[in-house]
Amino acid sequence: MHGMNGLVDTEQGLLDRSIFVSQDIYQQELERIFARCWLFLGHESQIPDPNDFLATYMGEDPVLLCRGGDGTIRAFLNMCRHRGNRVCRADRGNAKSFMCTYHGWSYDNDGRLTGVPGMKDIYGGELDMAQWGLVEVAQLDVHKGLIFGTFDPEAPPLLDYLGGQERELGVMFDRRVGGTEVIGGAHKWVMHANWKYAADNFFGDDGHHTVTHASVRRVPVDVRYYPSTNDEARPDTDRGLSRIAEGVIRDYHEEHFDELVRRIGPELADRPGLVTTVFPNVSPNFTRHMIRVWHPKGPDKTEIWSYCVVDRDAPPEVKDAMRLHLTQTFGPSGNLEQDDMNNWVQCTDTARGLVARRYPQNIQAHLGREERCGPIGGGRRLRAFYARWAMMMAAEDWSRVDLGTRYY
Ligand code: FES
Ligand code: FE
Repeated sequence: MHGMNGLVDTEQGLLDRSIFVSQDIYQQELERIFARCWLFLGHESQIPDPNDFLATYMGEDPVLLCRGGDGTIRAFLNMCRHRGNRVCRADRGNAKSFMCTYHGWSYDNDGRLTGVPGMKDIYGGELDMAQWGLVEVAQLDVHKGLIFGTFDPEAPPLLDYLGGQERELGVMFDRRVGGTEVIGGAHKWVMHANWKYAADNFFGDDGHHTVTHASVRRVPVDVRYYPSTNDEARPDTDRGLSRIAEGVIRDYHEEHFDELVRRIGPELADRPGLVTTVFPNVSPNFTRHMIRVWHPKGPDKTEIWSYCVVDRDAPPEVKDAMRLHLTQTFGPSGNLEQDDMNNWVQCTDTARGLVARRYPQNIQAHLGREERCGPIGGGRRLRAFYARWAMMMAAEDWSRVDLGTRYY
């Protein structure tokens, strides 16, 4: 596919480097991708009770995710309709209403404007309050505990948008009858790299592991952190820290494997894990027990949010081991994360060079030999990510967007 006037050529496996640094292209991404696609807003477990709320972003727009007094989940621009102050400054909490700290307009957590100081003196009682409620996200839906929203009233239903990817998400979010939950808060930090490097890496750049993470792969697991009840059967000693679950985590998964097969089928249950991206910017990583959101903050700046996600029914010591495993490997101080981030920062930085941009980037791994690509990468998914990107950037409306399995 040739997209965006040749910026993306997935038939040849070539990318124009300007898509990682151009301000114009970035603005178009906000318009064509972030203001239209279904975006991840949060996990149901983060707002479990009536009147709970959580602040997040859709693209660069601040958004407030609220559970109403009646339990209904809604999302709004976190922007006072008066002059534009944020109506809520907290990251999360519980509130029935929000009062803007600038001039005191108040909003109910269903978005209605309920109070305007000086309504009579200043506005002569004529301000039509029904017209000045919070701007609501056009569509909202929940899938396996994951809350998604879109600003586009024309966007297809969430399940159509996922285009079959929901099956794959079962590997992480449908393992046990109780579903999953987010434990702890969020790690948030800023990285000076384009958001797509991170999103495409989780979606399908599996070719980087052996080199990028070479040193971490040699670090043996410290079994003190993951004591197993079953160490004799499978000693931990020859497994590097970059590998998947050890100790109590491994025992737990083995114990519930039959349940997993019943729930998601033998083929998916047998996969070693799940690392993916739901286009454009949320990346679940089952192996590390996390959901990752890549919030764009400009072409060369990304705010990363990382949540720990575990089976709700897992025992406390397993949840604890999972959280620990996540923070050791990923997050701002995670040993694997630092390897990755450094590369993405450098890739973004070189694309600033005028001469550098004359030379396309290569995404040709296994090009024309797609059958050699495994289900999770091998170049095929990297090309699929950019095919999807180019399609969204070019399509005037959703009738021209192919959401089929080819694109995940
Ligand atoms: Fe919110 Fe004025 S900006 S009340
Ligand atoms: Fe990596």
